[in-house]
Amino acid sequence: MDEIVIPSALIQSLRTASRVAVLTGAGISAESGVPTFRDAQSGLWARYRPEELATPGAFKRDPRLVWEWYEWRRNLVTDAKPNLGHRSLVIMETQVPDFTLITQNVDGLHQMAGSKNVIEIHGNMHRSKCSTEGTIFDQPELYEDKPPLCPDCGAYLRPDVVWFGESLPPEALQASWESAQNCDLFLSIGTSALVEPAATLPLLSQENGAEVAEINIQETRLTPHASYFIVGSAAQVLPELVKITWQVDMSAE
Ligand code: APR
Repeated sequence: MDEIVIPSALIQSLRTASRVAVLTGAGISAESGVPTFRDAQSGLWARYRPEELATPGAFKRDPRLVWEWYEWRRNLVTDAKPNLGHRSLVIMETQVPDFTLITQNVDGLHQMAGSKNVIEIHGNMHRSKCSTEGTIFDQPELYEDKPPLCPDCGAYLRPDVVWFGESLPPEALQASWESAQNCDLFLSIGTSALVEPAATLPLLSQENGAEVAEINIQETRLTPHASYFIVGSAAQVLPELVKITWQVDMSAE
């Protein structure tokens, strides 16, 4: 493993910050074995592009196909467990007075790890919702019809995720803007920071006086703007960050 270099100024900022906002992407789940959106296209699904399946138009044309794709993706993550990266953010939440975790991931691993204040800006694939009324239902894997019908109105249920061309849930969007605007330190972890609003949130925090730290295995479009860039995997860097900042040793757990 390459040596992880964490600037002491970042440790100091994290230790003294009253408000911290964190944005995570697919990179934090990589070491839990969750394939990213595009990597996941294998086997029977290899001939479809995600952009052809994750859209309202695709669901309208072929609801069964889209439902089955999500069923397959849910099965891929069934055995996945939160890794040290997810678990370090649970510790961070207990140490920072005001902590918000914004995630683009739909795998639910942050909550499984024990994080409390999680904003899922792209939804959660373990939930479904009525395609006309939006009522939320848990445990879609228990339903037999593909897609199942809403018990209230008979319309199709669909995964409770944000598809291409759809707006983000307004409350989640508002809450993430607010936490970015008001934080002292913004951490961007394992995201390519290409998709909005992920791309704008760290810059917004910076405009409002926050420091921005990025953790990624490679540089991204955000890197030139970040106050700190720590190269390394989330599951290695985050436990180290927590250990140096608050003397909490995750490897001892
Ligand atoms: N630790 C840290 N970073 C990692 C790791 C790791 N172990 N493995 C990969 N990365 C980084 C990659 O270098 C890349 O910058 O994670 C990032 C993953 O980028 P994307 O696959 O683009 O994922 P994400 O940023 O979450 O995508 C945003 O786009 O595909 C849509 O809706 C989908 O929510 C998704 C959104």
